[in-house]
Amino acid sequence: MRVVVAGGAGFLGSHLCDALIARGDQVVCVDNFVTGSADNVAHLRDNSSFDFLEHDITEQFDVPGQVDAVMNLASPASPKDYYALPIETLDVGSIGTRNLLELCRIHDAIFFMASTSEVYGDPAIHPQTEDYWGNVNPIGQRSMYDEAKRFSEALTFAYHRTHGVPIRVVRIFNTYGPRMQPDDGRVVSNFITQALRGESLTIYGDGAQTRSFCFVEDEVSGFLALLDSDETGPINIGNPGEFTMLELADLVNELTGNEAGIAFEALPSDDPKQRQPDIALATSKLGWSPQIKLREGLERTIPFFADAIGVEHALR
Ligand SMILES: NC(=O)c1ccc[n+]([C@@H]2O[C@H](COP(=O)([O-])OP(=O)(O)OC[C@H]3O[C@@H](n4cnc5c(N)ncnc54)[C@H](O)[C@@H]3O)[C@@H](O)[C@H]2O)c1
Repeated sequence: MRVVVAGGAGFLGSHLCDALIARGDQVVCVDNFVTGSADNVAHLRDNSSFDFLEHDITEQFDVPGQVDAVMNLASPASPKDYYALPIETLDVGSIGTRNLLELCRIHDAIFFMASTSEVYGDPAIHPQTEDYWGNVNPIGQRSMYDEAKRFSEALTFAYHRTHGVPIRVVRIFNTYGPRMQPDDGRVVSNFITQALRGESLTIYGDGAQTRSFCFVEDEVSGFLALLDSDETGPINIGNPGEFTMLELADLVNELTGNEAGIAFEALPSDDPKQRQPDIALATSKLGWSPQIKLREGLERTIPFFADAIGVEHALR
């Protein structure tokens, strides 16, 4: 297949480009580097299966030649980024998504939408199944992201119903791994960088809130399973292993040998108390389930962070 990966120079997008090329597909990576980095795809630059187009997808564009699928990962994704870029986040979710759907309509291509567990908001049911409609504050602090993704999903289904564009919608739960931005403000990055610097790990609230963390390799294999299926989704792809922030902090401190402990700060508003994917649909329809445990994933992530922030480190 020849696959356009929008947001391909980001954390998830760059791993997706790697996985597509590894299985023999051609990739056209489209990115404007607003939150991504050329470094993430530098190793692919000379690969004959890889093309790069520097472009903001909120501006209409075409990709000449065959296009079999368009995978939309373009969006600021960490709270730090979408708080700094609220209007850009809404634009890329709406106008950007529409431009990519048009590309699919013109090329008869499959549209793959990277949505998010944030569409469930602060969920009233636990774990979250795909038929749960969510509990989102439409004007809350993180509404620019949550509502952009909810709009993207609605637009994707509108193109499917109106124009017959084949679609795949994935709801991604917290994913971590090499190539995350060390300063992106997400909990895994925060904890690892603090631990590697010998600082105490910052927990917001009492640390009893839970999250589920999926290693990037598992997440991307779920994307490909969905892309290759006939399922429209939405379908949850994430790791249901649920950890409190306290448990995560203890594990990071253990793996890095950090003895500085934990510091508690006030919980920001609109922070969901718990999030855990129900992956029954992914397991039954796609035959997919995550394989990499949190400990192993962290062991594979910590050396990348040590390198990125210039700290000598040997895993304990
Ligand atoms: N990482 C996670 O845990 C997670 C969870 C849920 C959903 N997602 C979704 O997965 C996708 C990728 O997330 P990520 O963690 O890799 O984030 P990221 O910020 O590393 O990657 C996003 C990429 O999109 C690019 N981009 C943003 N706006 C663009 C525009 N207008 N035109 C062209 N390129 C643009 C950025 O430059 C960046 O390279 C996002 O859509 C995000 O919402 C990620």
